[in-house]
Amino acid sequence: MTGDRGTPGLRRDNPEPADKERSNHQQPANQQRDDWLTPDGEPVERPTHVLAHLSDTHLTSPGVRYNGVVDADAALDRAVAVLREAVAGGRHLDAVVVSGDLTDSGDPDAYRRLEATLGQISGGADDQIPLIFATGNHDVRRQFHRSLLHRHDTDEPIVQVHTIRGLRIIILDSTIPGHGHGRVLGSHLDALRAELAAPAPAGSVVVLHHAPLPAPSPLLSYFALESQSRRALAAAVAGTDVRLILAGHHHLSQSGMLGAVPVAVAGSTAIRSDPLGPPGHERTWADGAFDLVELYAGTFTVSVIPVYGAPGVFDLDAAGCRAVTDAHPVDTANAGTVNANAFNADTGDGETVTAESSP
Ligand SMILES: [Fe+2]
Ligand SMILES: [Fe+2]
Repeated sequence: MTGDRGTPGLRRDNPEPADKERSNHQQPANQQRDDWLTPDGEPVERPTHVLAHLSDTHLTSPGVRYNGVVDADAALDRAVAVLREAVAGGRHLDAVVVSGDLTDSGDPDAYRRLEATLGQISGGADDQIPLIFATGNHDVRRQFHRSLLHRHDTDEPIVQVHTIRGLRIIILDSTIPGHGHGRVLGSHLDALRAELAAPAPAGSVVVLHHAPLPAPSPLLSYFALESQSRRALAAAVAGTDVRLILAGHHHLSQSGMLGAVPVAVAGSTAIRSDPLGPPGHERTWADGAFDLVELYAGTFTVSVIPVYGAPGVFDLDAAGCRAVTDAHPVDTANAGTVNANAFNADTGDGETVTAESSP
């Protein structure tokens, strides 16, 4: 193959010994995604932690369809198949987080099926990926404690703290038994503040079922997290090492902010709420998704992964990707000149781009 020798971003087969000074731009033929370089020749960032964030699986009792229509087990199976294939193919997952409404009615059999199905994501018995669960308004706290937390000693809400290679994951219980809306108890906020008093090496992620964001539909507004709890939670995490809040309940992939802290809401694996339905309507679709949360040293990404299947378009292997990069050499003539050409607000030097001229 050919290519612009020394061009950042390009990979090379069989690097020549004379190219030693460019060795950090050379790539093996069977390289993985993470071995690529940025256009200006820097190593691609790799996440320090990767979480699969599922929510609102709503597993029903045997023979019962969710909302009378949806096979929630089949929907979960589709999500697990995607993750199992990724793990089998070499993708790393630090944990699977499920943010509540695990079951539709608290059936112990549904909790057993949930844990068994999610356990299939791991490569084997010796390589089990941690499963982290929050409870939701459709769950039954007592059964949740017994089935998934293996706690038989209390029916009071539990604050869970998990640590994975320095990343602290704090699980709150935002449920009110017998009610659909959510509340964060003062005792939970006290426990959260006490836990966050000392920062974790890789920062913290807080998980709760009821999303601390405006709801997308009328009924979800009625069954939302109480506004007072939302404000109190915002105050509790402000100025701490909390990098991200994960939630569910809205049955819709959403993102927003709670004060200065980002919030990522995972959609239900089973159904999707419609934020564009007619005013006053509560409308859902047989559609589902989960989130892939990748935490980097200085940022994070949340990728929405649909689970209802879609026809493939293309799947380029390493050679195919190489052909694309060979056909699209990067601009090296102006590499490293961004700062020199940046607009200087003080002097007016440089170039501005108006909204009208942007693509
Ligand atoms: Fe739900
Ligand atoms: Fe819910």
